[in-house]
Amino acid sequence: MAEELETAQIPPHIMAAMRERMKMAQRMSRIKHKIVVMSGKGGVGKSSVAANLAVVLAEDGSAGIVDADVTGPDIPMLMGVQDAQVKATETGMEPTIGPAGVKVISMAQLIDRDTAVVWRGPLKIKALKQMLSDVEWGDLDYLVIDLPPGTSDEPLSVAQEIPDADGAVVVTTPQLVSLLDVRKSIAFAKAVKMDILGVIENMSGFVCPHCGKETDIFKVGGGEAAAKELGLPFLGRIPLDPRIVVGGDAGKPFVLEHPDSEAAKAFRAIVKNLKPHLKEARPRPTGPLAK
Ligand SMILES: Nc1ncnc2c1ncn2[C@@H]1O[C@H](COP(=O)(O)OP(=O)(O)O)[C@@H](O)[C@H]1O
Ligand SMILES: [Mg+2]
Repeated sequence: MAEELETAQIPPHIMAAMRERMKMAQRMSRIKHKIVVMSGKGGVGKSSVAANLAVVLAEDGSAGIVDADVTGPDIPMLMGVQDAQVKATETGMEPTIGPAGVKVISMAQLIDRDTAVVWRGPLKIKALKQMLSDVEWGDLDYLVIDLPPGTSDEPLSVAQEIPDADGAVVVTTPQLVSLLDVRKSIAFAKAVKMDILGVIENMSGFVCPHCGKETDIFKVGGGEAAAKELGLPFLGRIPLDPRIVVGGDAGKPFVLEHPDSEAAKAFRAIVKNLKPHLKEARPRPTGPLAK
C-alpha cells in the first residue's frame, strides 16, 4: 500500500498548487492578526482608515499593510513609499518600510506605474496571493488589508484568498444610506465566511480648524445607527478634517502628522475598541517549518 502511494504520480500542477498553499500557510501563520478593511462603496475613506489604523497598531506591535486594491492602489502614497524599491530575495521579496516601521506592499510598487494595466480577475487574484505569500513579512502582530471597494465579485474573490483573517472592519459614512452599505457588507462577509469586527463611521461631523466648532456636514450617526440595528460592534467615528487630504498627499499618515487632533484621537480610540474583537492568536509554529 505504502509503495503504491509512493509510486502514485501526483500531477505537477497539483504539486505546484500544494506547494503554493503550504508557502501561504507558513507565511500567514507568522502573522498574529489579519484585519481586512472593507466598504460598501469607494470614496468613503477606506484607504485612509487602513493606513492610519496600521500606524496606530504599530505603536504597540509590529504591523504591515497590504494594498489589495490593485486598480486604485493608494496605500504607497499614503505611506510615503511610492518611490521605494521592492527588493527581491531568494524566497520572495522584501516589503518596503513606511512610517512607524509599517511594512508596506502594493501592486503599485510592483508594476510600472506609467503603464496602463488592465487587470483581469484571475490576474488580480494571482497578484494578491503573491502579496501575501511571496512577501517576507516575518513575524508580525498585525496585517491590515485594504480591500478593493464595494461588494462585487472582485473584492469577494480577493477576500476569499486571505486565510484565517480575524475579520473585516467596515468603513461607512454618516448618511442614511450607510445602513444599506453595511447590509451589503454583512452579506459579503457571510459569503466569504468572515466575521465583521465592527463598523467605523468616517467623515462624521466637521470640526472647524479655526474656531473648533463642530458642523455636521454629512449628518452624524448613520453608521452608528446601522451598526446598532444590525447588531454589530460600533468602533467609533472619525470627523472630517481637511488635513487628512493634505496628509494623504504628503505621504505621512494623518495620525503621525497631527497626533493631537480630534481625528487622530478618534483613530486611536477605534484601535482600542477594535482590539478586544480580534481573535485569540494561535501560537506561532516553531521547528523546521517555522521559516
Ligand atoms: N475623515 C476625513 N476627513 C477629510 N477627508 C477625508 C477623510 N477620510 C478620507 N478623506 C479623503 O477622502 C478621499 C477618499 O478617501 P480614501 O481613503 O481614498 O477612500 P477609499 O479608499 O474608500 O476610496 C481622500 O481624498 C481622502 O484624503
Ligand atoms: Mg482606496
